[in-house]
Amino acid sequence: MYSNWEELTAACKDCQRCELCKTRHNVVSGVGNPDSEVMFIGEGPGENEDLQGEPFVGKAGILLDKMLCAIDLDRSSNIYITNIVKCRPPRNRDPKPEEQELCIGWLRNQTALIRPKIIVCLGRIAACRIIKPDFKITREHGMWFEKNGVYMTAMFHPAAVLRDPRRKPEAFADFLALRAKINEICEYTYKSTAFSSTGEMK
Ligand code: URA
Repeated sequence: MYSNWEELTAACKDCQRCELCKTRHNVVSGVGNPDSEVMFIGEGPGENEDLQGEPFVGKAGILLDKMLCAIDLDRSSNIYITNIVKCRPPRNRDPKPEEQELCIGWLRNQTALIRPKIIVCLGRIAACRIIKPDFKITREHGMWFEKNGVYMTAMFHPAAVLRDPRRKPEAFADFLALRAKINEICEYTYKSTAFSSTGEMK
């Protein structure tokens, strides 16, 4: 366990714990403010993310940014975004259970340092790993679960919304519910759009 954010990120960027390190261009450790109260967790980097070293920068990422903007969230200031696995699975296949297992330590360490009040899982893979193994995204998206004082929910993956635009109203409703939850339990997220990353306001 690293207690320093920069050391954690540097070590993660050097990771060779699983085979994905052989085919990746970049480790995608995450983006945003590590002092955030709200953390988003996706599945794993795709092609654009692998090439640019940042999560959710492809078409799904553009939709995600729009939904975030609609509820005054922004990846560069008041949230943190990362994935279950930090390296791209070849041909965008689902990350294998053993790859998730070998990678999850990075996410645990990130979560331990960020200490988010809210965790939002983007899609089924993240929800099954973080909330419960039998999570049913169609039935249980938008519901809230509490574990050790942290509120967790899952939303449709933005790529799934792009594939089936009929999901847009439900996806948007989940973002509105997230805004309400932030207003209820978060102290800083909506107070300032650029709070310090030195930890002094938390
Ligand atoms: N899909 C994900 O789950 N994560 C990314 O970073 C990009 C696409």
